[in-house]
Amino acid sequence: MRISVVGLGYLGAVHAASMASLGHQVVGVDVDEARVESLASGRAPFFEPGFDELLAQVGASGRLSVTTETAAVEDARVHFVCVGTPQRADGYAADLTYVELAVAGLVPHLSPGDVVVGKSTVPVGTAARLAAQVEAAGATLVWNPEFLREGFAVKDTLHPDRIVYGVPEGQAGVRAAGVLDEVYATPLSEGIAQVVTDYATAELVKVAANSFLATKISFINAMAELCEVAGGDVTRLADAIGFDERIGRKFLNAGLGFGGGCLPKDIRAFMARADELGAGEAVAFLGEVDEINTRRRHRMVELTGQVLDGEVTDKRVTVLGAAFKPNSDDVRDSPALDVAARLGEAGADVVVHDPQAIDNARRKAPALRYEPDLETALTGADAVLVLTEWQHYKDLDPQWAATLVAAPHVLDGRNALDRDTWLNAGWTYRALGRR
Ligand code: UDX
Repeated sequence: MRISVVGLGYLGAVHAASMASLGHQVVGVDVDEARVESLASGRAPFFEPGFDELLAQVGASGRLSVTTETAAVEDARVHFVCVGTPQRADGYAADLTYVELAVAGLVPHLSPGDVVVGKSTVPVGTAARLAAQVEAAGATLVWNPEFLREGFAVKDTLHPDRIVYGVPEGQAGVRAAGVLDEVYATPLSEGIAQVVTDYATAELVKVAANSFLATKISFINAMAELCEVAGGDVTRLADAIGFDERIGRKFLNAGLGFGGGCLPKDIRAFMARADELGAGEAVAFLGEVDEINTRRRHRMVELTGQVLDGEVTDKRVTVLGAAFKPNSDDVRDSPALDVAARLGEAGADVVVHDPQAIDNARRKAPALRYEPDLETALTGADAVLVLTEWQHYKDLDPQWAATLVAAPHVLDGRNALDRDTWLNAGWTYRALGRR
């Protein structure tokens, strides 16, 4: 099948290459020339495990082309909209400019019978509004939210937990769902749960899932706050409640909390949209979820101050991790970078290390010092903060690290280190939600 993908960020680039790997002829479109150039030469424009290999595979097949020209979509019969919906500068709501531009740009190039597939995360009601434009061109709009996680983007695209279609009522919807079934034909859809529903439900599924995940994380971080004052251990608590299958252990890792380009802005946009719909009360608890999340960052700064005897000014603080989570170079709303910046503002001499995210971090927080070499970053530190749980840091030898630092204080912002090994190597160990 001939497919176009508009927007080649984490979502679109991985989606385009994945669809090509299924045997489709794919054209990807993005306004960002550097991104298109990178993809055209087979280089991933961001760090994502497995993506370089996928690009090499589809590059050799000749089934993926990329361009900045929207007119290139004309040969395609199915068009995926994968552009971003960032938080608006003036509040919590989602900025729909890119989605609106993408659909408006597609419309003149559509042929009757084409299917436009929205994958971006949008406020409920957006699809119904965009459908009119698409239908005027004789095409049908399907809303097909994407649930991929960075760091697992390729796996999540090709082996999702479920596939959700929001379709219009009537024959057009049935036909469009059938076309999309063909696109996702085996092996992708074999044995994968599928939910075919209306636009509003499909849009809500995505924000509901992300809200649930954010709530789960803030719940365990609230328990961490309790553990801190009561002398408990949140990691043991999470293990114990996680054995209950109704609760489950996943997404109960207490620590610095959630960041990235999705969970924070999605829960805020959900609250803004619910307010517009007069149902703000229904999701008001997400405001608390957001606040618990932010409080963890403050707590980390406070703990660092305590370890440094109440004075961070001119103390050398080594921050391990800048990405919002491991296996990613993404620093959007990164808790790690936020804590590093706050410590820098408080007067600490902060040195940040990250295996992949330094370039992005430097653009975002240029006032901080960055060190690509781990040994140099650790040398002379008065405190070491592990703020993103890269495997690299979990594997650190505390005996070796102790020989480099000025004072062996480690703060484990992700409950990622083996506490006893660090204690036995002579370190003082502090963590969120643990003694
Ligand atoms: C998320 C959703 O998981 C995905 O389904 C959706 O499509 C996009 O948003 P992503 O932002 O890539 O994916 O990262 P995710 O793995 O969900 O982690 C989000 C944040 O939560 C990270 O900062 C992570 O460190 C944090 N987190 C996650 C915790 O603090 N504790 C946990 O137990 C799990």
